[in-house]
Amino acid sequence: RRRIAVLISGRGSNLEALVEAMAAERWDARIVAVIANRPDAAGLAWAAARGLPTAGLDHRAFAEREAFDAALAQAIDASGAELVVLAGFMRILSDGFVRRYEGRLVNIHPSLLPAFAGLHTHRRALEAGCAFAGATVHLVTPTLDHGPIIAQAVVPVRPDDTEAGLSARVLAAEHRLYPMALRWLIEGRLALDAQGRVRPLDGQPQGLFF
Ligand code: GAR
Repeated sequence: RRRIAVLISGRGSNLEALVEAMAAERWDARIVAVIANRPDAAGLAWAAARGLPTAGLDHRAFAEREAFDAALAQAIDASGAELVVLAGFMRILSDGFVRRYEGRLVNIHPSLLPAFAGLHTHRRALEAGCAFAGATVHLVTPTLDHGPIIAQAVVPVRPDDTEAGLSARVLAAEHRLYPMALRWLIEGRLALDAQGRVRPLDGQPQGLFF
């Protein structure tokens, strides 16, 4: 069974969606570590209550990013994880860390990349007058929020939308998108084309519309 580590910083609703999809669809995979950079992350308590192995690794205890990332890598490797899933993990990872897990480090970002890398994506989409917002699952590369795209969810912006309303609707879409994309990855159903883009081997559409 494929072994997954999930890295979180807060609420952990994407972790919950993953755990539920894995159980409901009987994936040939299991979560071997849930690691948070904030020991008080709500998602960590939720995971512990579900009997998942958890670890809090407080980034404030480390003077340098590299030292924190080394401790993080140690925790991941000790768990035996093959796939590393970032689910609302709000720390930038060093190049060395990203390279160590190249091809098996995945992130979900709350925008239609390459638009709106970084923070406050929904506010920025509303300010730009976008008609659509969404979320992207991608392989992580050293450039922040810019790795090969695995799948995207498109969510229409409503007239008079608010940041809270839009982000709630995008989050609901993330909960469908992320398990779908991770399942493709775990089942070996993805390949990179000559341009380095991710393509499902069975030609599945990579876009979900909400
Ligand atoms: C999600 O919307 C995720 O896309 C975003 O944080 C939220 C985490 O929610 N991630 C980023 O902004 C990454 N830079 P969750 O903790 O409930 O899964």
